[in-house]
Amino acid sequence: MTYETILFSKEDGLGIITFNRATKLNALNNKMVEDLGKVIQECEKDEEVKVIMFTGGTELFGAGADIDMLEKIPSSADCYLFSLASSSAYNAIESIGKPTVAAIGGFCLGGMMEISLCCDFRIAADNARFGLPEVTLGILPGGGGTQRLPRLVGMTKAKELAYLGEMIDAQEGYRIGLLNKVVPKDQLMEEAKKFAKKLLGRPLFAVRMIKAAMNTGANVGLREALEIERQSFTILFSTEDKSEGLKAFLEKRRGQFKGR
Ligand code: COA
Repeated sequence: MTYETILFSKEDGLGIITFNRATKLNALNNKMVEDLGKVIQECEKDEEVKVIMFTGGTELFGAGADIDMLEKIPSSADCYLFSLASSSAYNAIESIGKPTVAAIGGFCLGGMMEISLCCDFRIAADNARFGLPEVTLGILPGGGGTQRLPRLVGMTKAKELAYLGEMIDAQEGYRIGLLNKVVPKDQLMEEAKKFAKKLLGRPLFAVRMIKAAMNTGANVGLREALEIERQSFTILFSTEDKSEGLKAFLEKRRGQFKGR
């Protein structure tokens, strides 16, 4: 399927979603929200896609929500509907049962930074800059920024970013635990693909269960979270990959996994 605001390609098990609104600094508008929702559904259904990467290339991830569009939202009731539609796309990115990696270069701001927060992993080029500038417009990060950022980096730094609206560079992003890795700009895509391809070698149904247990468990009490973990652990004992994984270890060879 083709999309107006994003490009979608496949490469050896990797589904690559590239933001494609560079004339508007990849600003997130209604159409991009709709396209993201659809491409995520496509990735979930397509068995050739095992790991998903979000990127805008080395120079720009995205400058946040489209301010021209925001300015035209006539009322709080319309804003609520926009927020419902966009949060359904964000939630779909966060909860898709396949690992997601954001490969980030250049500005990664506002709603586009919030997309990166929905990904499992964030790899940034050394030219990347992060921020939630919404407060400087008199609004707030309404794509999950006030909730997902503190869960990732802690309340102290998250409040600083959200209250002041200032940007941080990639090194600071790494230092506060926002990023998995910072790489030289010209190696961004290569390094992000290398990371994604490592995931491809793992038993991906087990990874799916780990993701669901960690994402769901992070939002409930510890006892409930441990029960989710126990049930997921139990389910994995009936998979072919579990039989292969244990057998391969005992036979001193690498496991050949099928994702089932
Ligand atoms: N929505 C709509 N248009 C945007 C935009 C956004 N989020 N971000 C940038 N643009 C537009 C600018 O208006 C400008 O348009 P023009 O060429 O017609 O004047 C163009 O993109 C280039 O932006 P400019 O500000 O000139 O580039 P810069 O390199 O000096 O600064 C940014 C880049 C990203 C730092 C700056 O554009 C910015 O702060 N953007 C807003 C970020 C933001 O507040 N995001 C959260 C929105 S809720």
